[in-house]
Order: sequence, then C-alpha cells, then structure tokens
Amino acid sequence: MRVLFVDQSAELGGAEISLLQHVTGSSHQSAVLLFEDGPLAERLAQAGIAVETLRAAGPINVRRESGFLAALKAAPAVLALVAAVARRARGFDVVYANSQKAFVVSALSMFLARRKLVWHLHDILTAAHFGRFLRWSVMRLGNGRADRVIANSDATAAAFVALGGRRQLVSVVRQGVDEAPFAAVPAAKIAALRAELGADRGPLIGVFGRLAAWKGQTVFLEALAQVPGAIGVIVGEALFGEQACAETLRGHAARLGLRDRVKFLGFREDVPALMRAMDIIVHSSVAPEPFGRVVVEGMMAGRPVIAAAAGGVLEIVNDGVTGFLYEPGNAGALAAKVNTVLASPELAARVAEAGKVDARLKFSSAASIYRVDAVLSALTLTGG
Ligand code: UDP
Ligand code: GLC
Repeated sequence: MRVLFVDQSAELGGAEISLLQHVTGSSHQSAVLLFEDGPLAERLAQAGIAVETLRAAGPINVRRESGFLAALKAAPAVLALVAAVARRARGFDVVYANSQKAFVVSALSMFLARRKLVWHLHDILTAAHFGRFLRWSVMRLGNGRADRVIANSDATAAAFVALGGRRQLVSVVRQGVDEAPFAAVPAAKIAALRAELGADRGPLIGVFGRLAAWKGQTVFLEALAQVPGAIGVIVGEALFGEQACAETLRGHAARLGLRDRVKFLGFREDVPALMRAMDIIVHSSVAPEPFGRVVVEGMMAGRPVIAAAAGGVLEIVNDGVTGFLYEPGNAGALAAKVNTVLASPELAARVAEAGKVDARLKFSSAASIYRVDAVLSALTLTGG
C-alpha cells in the first residue's frame, strides 16, 4: 500500500516524532509532505524517506483559539495547499494526516482526489486546548471525510466523541517508544552528565518537553522552590510559536530565587542519556496531556516519574506502582511527592523498576507501528 503522510510542522514535537517512527518503521511504502522546512524534514531525508515541503502561498494565521474570521483570511493560502495535496495524493492509496492543519487541508483535498483518509489525532479536542470554532470544524470534517481516526489515547478518543465525533471511526493506538537508546546509554555518559549538572550539590529533578504555558513548567519551578537543595533541569525549547513562554519562565525562576538551582538546557537530542542522569523526572502539564511520550520515556529510563494526573497519563502511570501522580497544577502536591520520593530511595527504586518493565511491555515502538500498519491494511480489506 502507498501511504502519503502529511504534517503541517517540521519541528520535533511528540506528534512529529511519532510520524518519524511510523514512516520509518512501516511496512507500507511511504512518502511525506510537510508545510514547512525544519529538523523533521532532515531526519526523514537521512532515513531515506521521500519528503517534500509545500510552502503556503500566503499567511495561515489560524491558531488554537482562532475563529471563523481567521479561517476566512487564511482561505486562499489553504486552498492552494489543498490543490497541491490533491495533486500529490493521486499517486497514493492512503493520505495520512498527522496534525490538525494537515488534516483540514487533506480532508478538503479529498473533494478533488478521493483517496482513503486517515487522521492521526494527537490532540485532546476540548476547550482547555482549542477554541470552539476549530473543535467544531475538525470534528465535522472528521465525521464527513475521514475513513479512520487514530487517537493516541482513550482520553483523546473520548474528547472527540464527546464533541460529536463518530465512535465507530476511532481506533486507539497509544504511542510507542523505542527502548534501545535508553538501554544503550553508557554509565560513563550518565556520570559525566550528572557531574556537569551539579549532582554533587543536590538531587537532579528534570522536566522534559517543549516550553509552552500548558506544559506547566511554571508549576515545576514553584514546586522546586519547596524542595530545598534540589536542582531543576528544564529540557526543551518553545517549538510552535510560544517563544514568549521561554522568557516568562526564566523571569519566573529568577523571581522565585531559583537562578542558581535551575538549568535551562534548550532542545536536546540526547533525551535518553539526560533522563537516565536524573534522580526524578517530573511531568507538569496543567491541561490534560493527550498522551505524553515523555512520561513513557522517563519510565523506560528507569527513573521514578511524577506526573500530572489527567488525560492520557492516567493510561500510562499506575500511582504508587509504576510511577507517581499528583493533581495537575498543584505545586504544593508536586513538591510533597518529590520530597517523599527523595526521602524513600527504596520506594523510588522499586517503582522506577516496575515502571520500566511496564513501559517496555505496554508501549513498545514495535507494537504501535504494527497497530497503525494494521489500521492502514484494514482500510482496503474492508473496502470501507
Ligand atoms: N524532546 C526532545 N528534546 C527535547 C525535549 C523533548 O527530543 O529537548 C522529545 C521528547 O523526548 C518526546 C517529545 O519531544 O519524545 C515530546 O513528546 P510529548 O508527547 O511528551 O509532548 P508533545 O510535545 O508532543 O506535546
Ligand atoms: C501531541 C500531544 C502529546 C502526545 C503526542 C504524540 O503532541 O501533546 O501528549 O504524546 O502528540 O501522540
């Protein structure tokens, strides 16, 4: 089967890392269309995947909270993309849209070139994440044009259905993570990173992910202020136009008197090594996380993970058994968990080990690649 993957972004967010994994691992013949140039395009090309960047003819200023007017203004540029995607789609059996804008463009292009259309939905379509107009439009397009919607968690699937999305369209395929890079980190590399980050001065508490208001790094800082001596390690950069958030965070750290205790490492390619160098890994999202690759990665690194109890995270972490949960946004509760874990090394080690085993079992990349491939194969088997 020939599959054309489409994504609006070429940044390495979780959805794009998922695409990279599925395209490179798939048994189907794949090519990728992106709406911008960036690191994802480079990674795909390095992996020998045919990748093309379609540039929009004009500005598409449709953001998560945008309404009808913004959509109308973007219409000419969107229509040019629609025509371009339709032209490319003719050479494929399936179009696989991996992001919201890519889905809207692909769904509209199906009026010009009818192909099977799969929408890999990586977002929770609720008011905490998207404006009413966007939620309603993508749900209607999903119901009308998608042959299948792949949701990255039950939470994501439930939000789509609650909005009016057809339940029969949805297959849940949770994200998979390749365990090999975590197992392969040399002990010397871990020791070097720990020394560099100042582990001799205090425990290293890491938070991993792009800098964005809803990812809650401010909650992480506020909790850190309540854990004497601990060193906060913030790994990630603003990826999707949220640069202001990065500045706000640095200011916040200074106001809390944490300047000497917080390290901003920016975007890193060595997440497995960095995670293995931490004493604790925190997940801090204040809105429900659709899935949360970083939570699985922290578990695969064999470190105790303390995560915000909402969304897809509830399908990953069993509180007190494979990780720890706290009320999202509650810095006091997070600090209390961090202090408990630091005070109980035996509990921390037991939970981290159980988390590693559980994550390897439930969230292998092989399983998720197989499940997505099966969804694709079933499209033509049923003729549906
Ligand atoms: N990540 C990375 N380098 C960084 C920060 C994050 O490679 O500096 C990766 C991280 O390892 C994870 C992904 O980015 O695989 C983030 O995915 P997640 O599902 O946690 O969140 P998203 O950004 O998709 O909302
Ligand atoms: C999205 C979500 C994240 C999820 C990722 C991969 O970017 O924000 O929670 O893990 O997609 O599905």
